[in-house]
Amino acid sequence: MTPAIAPDPDIVVLTGAGISAESGIATFRDEGGLWARHRIEDVATPEAFARDPDTVLAFYDARRAQVVDAKPNAAHAALSALQAKLGTRLLLVTQNVDSLHEAAGHKPVVHMHGQLDQALCPACDHRWPAPATIPVAHPCPACGTPGARPDIVWFGEMPYHMEAVLPAIEACTVFAAIGTSGQVYPAAGFVEIAANHGAETWEITLEPSGNPWFDHAVLGPATKSIPDWCAQMAVRFAPT
Ligand code: OAD
Repeated sequence: MTPAIAPDPDIVVLTGAGISAESGIATFRDEGGLWARHRIEDVATPEAFARDPDTVLAFYDARRAQVVDAKPNAAHAALSALQAKLGTRLLLVTQNVDSLHEAAGHKPVVHMHGQLDQALCPACDHRWPAPATIPVAHPCPACGTPGARPDIVWFGEMPYHMEAVLPAIEACTVFAAIGTSGQVYPAAGFVEIAANHGAETWEITLEPSGNPWFDHAVLGPATKSIPDWCAQMAVRFAPT
């Protein structure tokens, strides 16, 4: 179900794996990241799941186990505090499949790449809380069809909630990409859309992406840079 998204937020924040790195969750493309240790075509495509569900389910079971004890960090907390001040004038869209934004009190969070803590029935689209391990041929509790999968958007699949996210990006005054390498579309293209619609654009990360559509870059660990940036935005967009 699409979360309630205001069509004209002042700020749209897109987060990626970098914001959860200091909570101990592996990123994808940094040295030693997930995609250095696993082939995408073996674990993160619908074809891989059809061919070898054991391997794919085991990969996501391991990732679920990794995030279960992770705690939100100062960057998640700062964004949540900013949202408490601005309400629906801040829209948070994340590529992350962990629930650390929610654990920091953020609501709603738009999970464009799905959520590790949910299982999905490909037959009827029913979603339910994922068990620690999803067994092969696990039946859907709603329709009984075997073959539950993690509620993750795999390569070659359509990210969630784009019909609500894209108009918000076109309408916002400030767009910020936090802790994302900008390698995966459509998220990587959001900055260009925002800039073309007149938004001021920020990249807040460790390594700059080199994308020319960003007006500002703040380089450094998210737990240091995000609290400062949020404080700036809180003053700028304070309700009058
Ligand atoms: P990446 O691993 O591609 O990029 C992580 C970014 O975070 C890099 O630019 C790092 O410089 C930055 N970073 C690392 N540690 C940081 C820190 N402490 N503070 C700030 N920034 C830090 O991850 P994503 O861009 O999120 O999709 O990856 C996008 C998508 O690719 C993921 O959602 C996933 C993956 O394949 C799917 O699985 C569908």
